[in-house]
Amino acid sequence: MALYSEKVMDHFRNPRNVGVIEDADGVGEVGNAKCGDIMKMYLKIDDDIITDVKFETFGCGSAIASSSMATELIKGKPVDEALQLTNKAVAEALDGLPDYKMHCSVLAEEAIKNALDDYHSKQASKKE
Ligand code: FES
Repeated sequence: MALYSEKVMDHFRNPRNVGVIEDADGVGEVGNAKCGDIMKMYLKIDDDIITDVKFETFGCGSAIASSSMATELIKGKPVDEALQLTNKAVAEALDGLPDYKMHCSVLAEEAIKNALDDYHSKQASKKE
């Protein structure tokens, strides 16, 4: 059996939503100290709906595929739903990752949560 699913290879070779959103409403950056990979997520949010999302990942193929899939899973979704996204759901949507590559999908979950935290703190400071 191939180590990586076709979906992983597809999202690795043709990642969706790569890039930067200059006027993002939320930005999240995370890294994994062991492998040194870094992931950054940018969110555009209108009325609590994620209208656009882009990512930059300096990392392994599984991290790139996970970021790409994660952006597809949250685009167009309400903020509350995006907060529920787990790394397991990302890995499942990719038709699985090898056990020792599951941490790559954790980066995607964490980057989105960080970006949503950033969004919420910006919203809170606007209200002050
Ligand atoms: Fe670290 Fe993939 S090896 S994110």
